[in-house]
Amino acid sequence: MRIYKNYREKNKVTLYNGNCIDLLRNIPDQSVNLTITSPPYCMGKAYEDPQDDINTFKKLHLDIFDELYRVTKVGGNICWQVGYHVSDKCVVPLDYLIYNIFTEMSLKFDHPLILRNRIIWTFGHGLNSTNRFSGRHETILWFSKGTPSHFDLDSVRVPQKYPGKRAYKGSRKGEFSGNPLGKNPSDVWDIPNVKAMHVEKTIHPCQFPVAIPQRLIKALTSQNELVLDPFMGSGTTGVAAIIENRRFLGAEIMPEYYSIAIERITAAANGTAKIREDKPVLIPDQNSAVARLPEEFAKVREDKK
Ligand SMILES: C[S@@+](CC[C@H](N)C(=O)[O-])C[C@H]1O[C@@H](n2cnc3c(N)ncnc32)[C@H](O)[C@@H]1O
Repeated sequence: MRIYKNYREKNKVTLYNGNCIDLLRNIPDQSVNLTITSPPYCMGKAYEDPQDDINTFKKLHLDIFDELYRVTKVGGNICWQVGYHVSDKCVVPLDYLIYNIFTEMSLKFDHPLILRNRIIWTFGHGLNSTNRFSGRHETILWFSKGTPSHFDLDSVRVPQKYPGKRAYKGSRKGEFSGNPLGKNPSDVWDIPNVKAMHVEKTIHPCQFPVAIPQRLIKALTSQNELVLDPFMGSGTTGVAAIIENRRFLGAEIMPEYYSIAIERITAAANGTAKIREDKPVLIPDQNSAVARLPEEFAKVREDKK
């Protein structure tokens, strides 16, 4: 698979090594179906200037917004994954800044952004705090530009804990109570973060797992639509886009991470990318009858394939 440096609509993958604002300025209006990204949190990481602070974070978003909005199709979506900025022992939830900047800045346009979900991404491991509760979640804000043109819930359903559970009263008494295809994954996603032993780990200090962009891409886009990550780091969103047969456009300012993104996205195209399957962290006791998948459900799933 060829990786292009300059965007053209027919490219499967375009990867830009530089400032994402320069990339966006060269993308035609309404090209992008879905943006998924995690921007720098200005927390002194290797890819940040030590002087960066919360004002740097705000300015970055004020500077990027109009271009991001312009390149997004009406009916398209923007998913922004962030955590917290901590300075002087003060914790700032970055999603509330993003919410205010994006919704207010979009009011001047014809299709203001609408917040569709605030997804809590929870994970079991991380730094252990001694003076407050240890942080074990970050968030993903899902905005749509106007009404979303696509939402495929069936493609991202997750296993029920007890698929064999039956309704115990009402007109459906005795029938299975859940959906044979699985349950809505809800707005709380328990997905392991990419720490040292994780199969997806690279030298990038802040990767998110492939499962996050993969769920969003499956639910919010169709085959061959264009997915953008303006702060792509090690290329995780691109890996998910290629696995799901979408087109991908990414920018990364640091050459060492840009090279990793090329390697990982090429591996995804060759079917050799290392990926943790999106499966539940806790699997219920299979000895319990209601925890086993009913044969009727297995058949519906098979027919759906
Ligand atoms: C939080 S990391 C993203 C990690 C990514 N989600 C992954 O899974 O690898 C943010 C990335 O944005 C890059 N970056 C910062 N400012 C940028 C800019 N103006 N344009 C493009 N990339 C930028 C940083 O070098 C860093 O790799």
